[in-house]
Formats: sequence, C-alpha cells, structure tokens
Amino acid sequence: MKKGLFITFEGADGCGKSTQMELLAKYLQKKGYEVVLTREPGGKGLGEKIRELLLNYNGEVSDRCESFLFLADRAQNIDIIVKPAISAGKIVLCDRHTDSSVAYQGYGRGLDIEHINRLNNLATNGLKPDLTFVFDIDVETSMSRVGKEKDRMESAGKEFHNCVRNGYLEIAKQEPERIKVLDATESIEEIHKKVTEIIYKIITN
Ligand code: TYD
Repeated sequence: MKKGLFITFEGADGCGKSTQMELLAKYLQKKGYEVVLTREPGGKGLGEKIRELLLNYNGEVSDRCESFLFLADRAQNIDIIVKPAISAGKIVLCDRHTDSSVAYQGYGRGLDIEHINRLNNLATNGLKPDLTFVFDIDVETSMSRVGKEKDRMESAGKEFHNCVRNGYLEIAKQEPERIKVLDATESIEEIHKKVTEIIYKIITN
C-alpha cells in the first residue's frame, strides 16, 4: 500500500473509541504500517490550547463560537498533522473529526447542518476520511462510563446527548460506504475484532 489512509473514530463521550483507536494502532504497527495518532480537538501545540478552551472554559460560550473553535482546531489538525502524514503514505487515526461537528453542533446544539457541512469542507480543504467508525451507545451507559467529573461538553444534559446519538445514526445512514456503525456495548475484544475485519479488507484491497 503506497497511498496513505485517513480513518476517523466517532461516537458519544465514553463510547470507547479512544481505546479502539489505540488497539488498532498496535495492530497496524505490528503489520509494519506507519501510524499517526491525532485527535480533535487537540492533536498538538495550538490544537491542545484550543481543546483546553473548548472543554474547560467556565463562562458563557455561544453555540456559533463553539462551532468555529472546533473548526479552527480542525483546520490546524488537517494542515499540520493529517495532510503531511497522508502524503507520506502513513495511516492516520483521528479521534473525532467532521462528523462530531455535525452530530454535536448540528443535531445537538441545533445549528444549521448545511452550514456546518460547508464549514467542515472549508476546514478540511475538501479532504475526507477514507473510513469512519461510529461507536454507538445509549446515553445512560455512556454517561455512567464518563462518571461524575464531566467537562463542559459532557455536562450538556441527557436530551442533548440523545440528539447527538441520533445525529450520528442519521449521518451513518446517509454515507453507509464510509461510515461503519459498531455496537459500543459489546466487549473491547469483540469490537476490536470487528474493527480489524473491516480494516483488513481495506489494507489488503
Ligand atoms: P473527546 O476528545 O472525545 O473527549 P473525551 O475523550 O475527554 O471524552 O471530545 C471532546 C468533546 O468535544 C466531546 O464532548 C465532543 C466534543 N466535540 C464537539 O462538540 N464538536 C466537535 O467538532 C468535536 C471534534 C468534538
């Protein structure tokens, strides 16, 4: 495989996507692939500063400001981390990406989804993930996994998180080729097996 691959991991807070991402990274590295791990918001440098603001700022934050901060971080992640790695033929695994904006700011906060799609496109410069996993989980289970110490987004309430979950399922219906939905209440091993079966088909294609 010469061409790089861009794979994103999506789902509710506490769905286990970060664990699955790390397991997949190990699986791919064992097979000899060069893997780059990143996350949104965050990644490194300025991205981590934006993450800090988005998750821990205590004062009032407008929904549109929140959206633009996630998008600014996304542009930085794409330009500084994702694009260069893909151009070098590496496999990039990214914890959250464009679908988070659609699910959280669109379906969750109620901002216009067409606008978010257009802004996402600007932030990514048109680069799309080759594959996206959505780890689907009911709100009660995900909130119990998150525990009592919640960040600003995790504290947004049950109704908000229900809308986010439905949002993900709706996006997945619209793009079944790119987006694979997995049941996040299964065991870590079972989910990892399903993830690797899907990936195996792509890397051996
Ligand atoms: P995440 O890194 O998954 O947090 P943790 O691993 O600590 O659960 O995501 C941070 C939060 O940001 C999460 O609640 C989802 C939210 N988010 C959005 O609302 N929109 C976005 O575009 C992104 C990337 C994340």
